[in-house]
Amino acid sequence: MKKFNGILYGGDYNPNQWPRDIWKEDMRMFKKAHINSATVNVFSWAKIQPAEDRYDFSELDDIIDMLSRENYEIVLATATGALPAWMAARYPEVERTDYEGRRHKFGQRHNACPNSPVFQRYSKALAGKLAERYGANPHVKCWHISNEYGGECYCENCARAFREWLKKKYGSLEAVNRAWNTEFWGHTFYDWEEIVPPNELSEGIGKDKTAFAGISIDYRRFNSDGMLANFISERDAIRAFDKETPITTNLMGTYNGLDYFKWAREMDIVSWDNYPSYNTPWSRTAMTHDLMRGLKDAPFMLMEQTPSQQNWQPYNSLKRPGQMRAQSYQTLAHGADTIQFFQLRRSVGACEKFHGAVIGHVGTENTRVFREVEQLGEELERLGSVLPASVNESRVGIVFDWDNYWALEYTSGPSVDLTYVKHIHEYYKYFYDRNIPVNMLPVDADFGKYSLVVAPVLYMVKEGMKEALTAFVENGGTLVLTYMSGIVDQSDNVHLGGYPGPLRELAGVWVEEIDALAPEQFNQVVMNSGESCRCGLVCDLMHLEGAESLGVYGEDFYKGMPAATRNAFGKGHVYYVGTHMEEQGLAHVLDQAALDAQVESVVSGGEGLEIVCRRTGDGHKLYFVMNFTDQERKLPACFEGQRDLLTGKSASRDTVLKKYDVCIIEQ
Ligand code: GLA
Ligand code: ZN
Repeated sequence: MKKFNGILYGGDYNPNQWPRDIWKEDMRMFKKAHINSATVNVFSWAKIQPAEDRYDFSELDDIIDMLSRENYEIVLATATGALPAWMAARYPEVERTDYEGRRHKFGQRHNACPNSPVFQRYSKALAGKLAERYGANPHVKCWHISNEYGGECYCENCARAFREWLKKKYGSLEAVNRAWNTEFWGHTFYDWEEIVPPNELSEGIGKDKTAFAGISIDYRRFNSDGMLANFISERDAIRAFDKETPITTNLMGTYNGLDYFKWAREMDIVSWDNYPSYNTPWSRTAMTHDLMRGLKDAPFMLMEQTPSQQNWQPYNSLKRPGQMRAQSYQTLAHGADTIQFFQLRRSVGACEKFHGAVIGHVGTENTRVFREVEQLGEELERLGSVLPASVNESRVGIVFDWDNYWALEYTSGPSVDLTYVKHIHEYYKYFYDRNIPVNMLPVDADFGKYSLVVAPVLYMVKEGMKEALTAFVENGGTLVLTYMSGIVDQSDNVHLGGYPGPLRELAGVWVEEIDALAPEQFNQVVMNSGESCRCGLVCDLMHLEGAESLGVYGEDFYKGMPAATRNAFGKGHVYYVGTHMEEQGLAHVLDQAALDAQVESVVSGGEGLEIVCRRTGDGHKLYFVMNFTDQERKLPACFEGQRDLLTGKSASRDTVLKKYDVCIIEQ
């Protein structure tokens, strides 16, 4: 498989939207900024297939020739992320039917019905044509299929495909009825044709809830599989002509709609688009990078970020001086081998004209943004000889599971505030704040590689999970479980016999009831040490069945009942956190778990700094040290006398990092 030369640095480039004299200027300015790559053809379907029976590659040929001549590494998109107007006009079925049941007309993008035979036929044909024409070009270094797959469709083609998907999964209608518990409200199906997609006209309760989570979760699985099938169909069409070039599609981090662990198995390399808001915590961005790396447990591509501004958030603040650079290093620290922007030249019209780009509307290099891009480009050129393909190592794993994400957020009760990613992030943040590296794991990971596994809100426990977690703990692992865990099976039916169901023996507790607290209500956890903290959201009323209590509720009729526990099991330990505690209370429990598992900061003395280590193929360690706080911070003493790859100078005892400063210490 082809490899990138160093760190790919560039981004979305749409010369087709500009007159040709601008192309020349682009080439000059990209070189100046040390840009070495361009992603082209992302939204050019209408240009390269102007009519149903006609392809026209003349302009794309010129673009690819120019980029090849100038020695750029090309990320070539298949252009199927936006439909051509002629297709929607002739074949209305390619347009989606939305959750409200409305068939859409031509417009926007990312909106093809995944089960439209017309879309399937033409997208596959286009991908094949492109690969046949450009696959042998050595400058084409990566295929970028479609763009940001997402959303869902509820049309008749999808309904038919859903029934087929169900037949394959369940074999019989009896099995479907059982899985979905259709006896409830007498929804029993006697004919496959009676099954309809669960949108707002059917089982949907408002936008986010459903009367039958089993049906709605299966529809999400089906929708994710259907779009994945679109990806695979284009991928295979490319592979028929090009066996050498890695194939990706740009993912969207913790996006709810697609099971990215499943997708990643079909992708050669993961890529994603990072668009934090002005108030997104840096720990949250770090977690998302770790998740994207975790999808394949391998380095990934940053396919898009804005050099400064966005247009689609409610408030699109500028990135402050140094912020883009620091954000880019954070990305590399967590496992990226590329830094790519959306986009290289700012649009002249339509909804993205206020979206930042390397070259602004003024058209010159004399801008703050360009200078920052240029500085980073110069640095990455040097770093490119050591960084790519180095690995991030970790002994802590946090479980992330899309089925569980869907199930937890579909539940009706006990609280509407049970959002999945927020809880994962709270646990992640404990480790982030202490510079303890984390891998994000699928439910079927090899837990044996870790000493500490945290599975927050593991509401859905699927087949095999109990056995895998039990083996992990028996062999000496430390497991952290929380409230809202072990409650349902893969179809959202309750594991009978007492919560947390299959995890009850492991945790050594029985949860008899779950109280829900409104945002203005709180209880208290009084730790054995005497410290106390506020808690809320949900409170498990639990009984010890072998576990020891670490702290008890301070108020209400369950005052004195355990709120957090630790159970010795085999050679390991299981922690059970029965309520949503404020940060320092949770830290109190996680400190003990970290001690049991003997997991530590990557270096000591780095409080307030983010420090991440990547190990290179030849055994060197690269420590990325970043300051995302408003205060100046001292470089940890252990780095004294060592070389900062960015300045080439040795760090001294007085090296200080201001906000957004970065050092990369090589050991
Ligand atoms: C997404 C898309 C891009 C562009 C950017 C703007 O990531 O993939 O085409 O629209 O958003 O932020
Ligand atoms: Zn459809």
